Amino acid sequence: MGVELELPEPADTEALGERLAAGLGPGDLVVLSGPLGAGKTVFVRGLARGLGVAGPVTSPTFVIAREHRPLPGGAGVPLVHVDAYRLGSGGAEVADELDDLDLDTDLAEAVVAVEWGEGVVERLAARHLLVRLSRRPDDLRTAVVSRVEAERA
Ligand SMILES: Nc1ncnc2c1ncn2[C@@H]1O[C@H](COP(=O)(O)OP(=O)(O)OP(=O)(O)O)[C@@H](O)[C@H]1O
Ligand SMILES: [Mg+2]
Repeated sequence: MGVELELPEPADTEALGERLAAGLGPGDLVVLSGPLGAGKTVFVRGLARGLGVAGPVTSPTFVIAREHRPLPGGAGVPLVHVDAYRLGSGGAEVADELDDLDLDTDLAEAVVAVEWGEGVVERLAARHLLVRLSRRPDDLRTAVVSRVEAERA
């Protein structure tokens, strides 16, 4: 497992997303875990800034997925921001549900970031970046980032 990073301020969480965006490209999957208010959406805001896509990044809680188009001068890669909270629990089902949303963006050409995605969306890709956000009892946010190879089905 990776190092636990301390993220005292929302800006730190956003900066982490922005920094990690530099290593992401078409077809990459980012799985975000952590409790309510841990900073998953704040992280995706940084991801969006790092990729150079159109905002605003808001909580997709009521829409399941939002698409963010590349802006001129950005990485040229769209961002799909998904909330898996209400999606099905199996890999194949989730893939079907995302398919059913009929997004304009081809997931293979986008960076896909999924809140509440752990244990749900891993099978969408052969590997993913796992970002585990936590809130310590004193409310300090922390993150552990790791690259995970999907288990063979
Ligand atoms: N270090 C920090 N990093 C991120 N957010 C922080 C931090 N400190 C305080 N906050 C606050 O915590 C809240 C995090 O909200 P955010 O919507 O990103 O959480 P979330 O993990 O997406 O929650 P949900 O599961 O409801 O989608 C924001 O109001 C933010 O200002
Ligand atoms: Mg959120």
